[in-house]
Amino acid sequence: MTPLDLWLSRSIPMCLLLQSLVLMALCFPSASMCPKGCVCQRARPDPGLHLGPGPLGLLLGLNVTCTGSRLKEIPPDLPPDTALLRLDHNQIMAVPEHAFRGLRLLRELNLSHNAVETLGEGAFSGVEATLQVLDLSHNRITSVHKDAFTRLKARILVDDNPWHCDCTLQQALGGMAHNHEAVARVLCRSSELQEQEGRNFLAVDTDLCNLAKRTTDYAMLVTMFGWFAMVISYVVYYVRQNQEDARRHLEYLKSLPSKPVKPNEVEDISTVV
Ligand SMILES: *[C@@H]1O[C@H](CO)[C@@H](O)[C@H](O)[C@H]1NC(C)=O
Ligand SMILES: *[C@@H]1O[C@H](CO)[C@@H](O)[C@H](O)[C@H]1NC(C)=O
Repeated sequence: MTPLDLWLSRSIPMCLLLQSLVLMALCFPSASMCPKGCVCQRARPDPGLHLGPGPLGLLLGLNVTCTGSRLKEIPPDLPPDTALLRLDHNQIMAVPEHAFRGLRLLRELNLSHNAVETLGEGAFSGVEATLQVLDLSHNRITSVHKDAFTRLKARILVDDNPWHCDCTLQQALGGMAHNHEAVARVLCRSSELQEQEGRNFLAVDTDLCNLAKRTTDYAMLVTMFGWFAMVISYVVYYVRQNQEDARRHLEYLKSLPSKPVKPNEVEDISTVV
């Protein structure tokens, strides 16, 4: 008998509490279910404690490893006590809104080496407070919603993505000011600014949002000028046309025999005009 066992057998209320917790752990439906293509391991506390898969294990959560399983989407049936989720080296193209909601213990999420193209506003909603590491490197992300990272406290990795640098990305990266490291590693595959293409996002110190605004203002000005030019040319055309008519009219009058023009004739001409 180890001292721990001795202690357990002596303190009956403590024993009962532990038993009920163990029972709860066993009854937890997630404890036995693991998504297809994944391996779920319960984190073991210090082996010297002999506590088995009891309360402490439940607190630490599950390691769910789905690495290289040709997954095309995030498994919808992730155990609610997933703490470490490895989804790297799959073919996941999208992270739906609220994809990880309910994973109250999720600390680490590895989505590297997938085919993710964009991230919506609520992609990581529900795990903002717990998530500590988010690996999005080696994907196909060109842009994200401006608030996709706003409330995340995690360390975010975004290397090797074909970023399109524009106002939206500037806003999204502005929302992760605590993540200098990640922001500093964003390379612009394409950009609103030609000089930024192929370069680091931070290498060019220009406000891309003001740039967009200026472009809109400029477009507006050009359109207005276009309209103005059309109106002017129409007026000019109209005046010219009238001058031409008036001239022809006068010539016609001059060419008439020199007898006085009858009033009703004048009326006729004016109706023609
Ligand atoms: C879960 O993952 C962590 C971090 O990689 C590791 O330290 C731990 O040993 C893993 N636990 C199990 C049960 O595999
Ligand atoms: C995510 O997985 C990749 C590939 O297995 C690995 O290289 C990388 O270190 C992992 N990221 C983190 C933050 O552990």
